[in-house]
Amino acid sequence: MNRNLALEFVRVTEMAAIASARWMGRGNEKAADQAAVDAMRTMLDSVDCRATVVIGEGERDEAPMLYIGEEVGSGNGPELEIALDPLEGTTVCAYGGYNSISVMAIAEKGNLLNAPDTYMKKIAVGRVGKGVVDINESATENLKRLAAAKKCRLQDLTAVVLDRPRHHDLIEEIRTTGARIQLIGDGDVSAGIACCEPDSGIDILFGTGGAPEGVITAAALRCMGGDFQGKLEFRNDEEIERAKKMGISDINKVFSIEELASGHVMFVATGVTSGNFLDGVQFTPWGAKTHSIVMRSKSGTVRKITAEHHFDTKPRY
Ligand code: FBP
Repeated sequence: MNRNLALEFVRVTEMAAIASARWMGRGNEKAADQAAVDAMRTMLDSVDCRATVVIGEGERDEAPMLYIGEEVGSGNGPELEIALDPLEGTTVCAYGGYNSISVMAIAEKGNLLNAPDTYMKKIAVGRVGKGVVDINESATENLKRLAAAKKCRLQDLTAVVLDRPRHHDLIEEIRTTGARIQLIGDGDVSAGIACCEPDSGIDILFGTGGAPEGVITAAALRCMGGDFQGKLEFRNDEEIERAKKMGISDINKVFSIEELASGHVMFVATGVTSGNFLDGVQFTPWGAKTHSIVMRSKSGTVRKITAEHHFDTKPRY
């Protein structure tokens, strides 16, 4: 994969972020998501590649654009696959909260897990925690191990957890250890990435969220040198059947970070609303300012790009 492709893909998330940011706080989740989807779909065709969407907006019959299996790109260039979420944190954007992003993970064919649209139990840590935590262990044990690796006290650690009733016991357990918790309403991709950002103040992510988001987070953490493990959690037999059809034979498998996103991986994201590691879109008298992150697992370089977009010279916006 040509490294410059990463910069081509960031144009795609920039445009999707700008389009959905127009809907920030307007209480219309559907419109915010649709704006991001339309913009991402349009921009993807300007990138020289032959890419297949492996994680997208849903099955072909339920999502007219960016559905699983859709071919995108200009049709010239390398064969790739893409896991994308044009607006990760739809509710967050619609209600003007923190941490919504437009995001894509890109790999060569056959390297991203085709995750079914179910839940996934997740654990994510930064570089120091790599090889230290184990999703099969309790939160208490993992926090103790991470504190030892970071040479700090349990009370110095901050765990991030989606604020959901299903996490009641997990939250109580973390509180008992003395560790701090940041409860988030949505957006566990941003939260997972924040574990790798020393300035975010977040050390570890626990809990269950979307499985597709798990693959995207794993791709990001591959680039950043962190660790991620995930175990699918099904809500019903239909979801189990669907997973089996998608090639997942062992439904109790714990997926390592490399099993979720292997080979050379690229990751791009643009902030829609401000969050732990990216500022949101700011509209200006001349256009808009965006904040993006671009990373490649091969080099491990993390690039943050602030872009000024001038709408008079870019009529597409
Ligand atoms: P959307 O972008 O699809 O709204 O997802 C937001 C999100 O919070 C994800 O970050 C997270 O993985 C998932 O939803 C959690 O699912 P649920 O809201 O069902 O608990």
